[in-house]
Amino acid sequence: MNYTPAATSEAVRFMFITVVNQKGGVGKTTLAVHLAIWLRERGLRVAVIDADGQAASTRWIGAAEPQITVVTEANADAIIEQGSHLRQTHDAIVGDGPANLAEATRALLLVRGVPSGMRSSHVRIDDSPYRCWPC
Ligand SMILES: Nc1ncnc2c1ncn2[C@@H]1O[C@H](COP(=O)(O)OP(=O)(O)O)[C@@H](O)[C@H]1O
Ligand SMILES: [Mg+2]
Repeated sequence: MNYTPAATSEAVRFMFITVVNQKGGVGKTTLAVHLAIWLRERGLRVAVIDADGQAASTRWIGAAEPQITVVTEANADAIIEQGSHLRQTHDAIVGDGPANLAEATRALLLVRGVPSGMRSSHVRIDDSPYRCWPC
């Protein structure tokens, strides 16, 4: 896909993608890091919010692509605050969640703060085909 920020509408230009699951070891960090680097390689200004205290995506991104902004933050209120700051200066934010459905995970889902006219959807990935729910 030949995607550049300048070629897209305002509504599509900003993306907040968050990868969450209550379990560990299911590929959240791997997916989040690859998505972030893929978006960066297409010219987007990308930030990652690493909400897992183990900070695996922080270390991985730091080594692989220093041009991506990384915020390591497990506090729910701080995640929401950081999300609104980062969206002023970035085209895409990728959230990497911890292995639970507690406050930090909820904050990653809430921080998207969908502006009017912007579409939001959940993609559930499990052992059945991809399912997508507009919301
Ligand atoms: N698509 C995949 N296929 C095979 N192994 C994977 C895949 N995605 C992740 N892994 C491996 O699974 C392990 C856990 O991945 P990780 O991204 O750290 O999961 P999580 O963030 O959910 O704890 C790692 O060893 C990683 O290399
Ligand atoms: Mg992880």
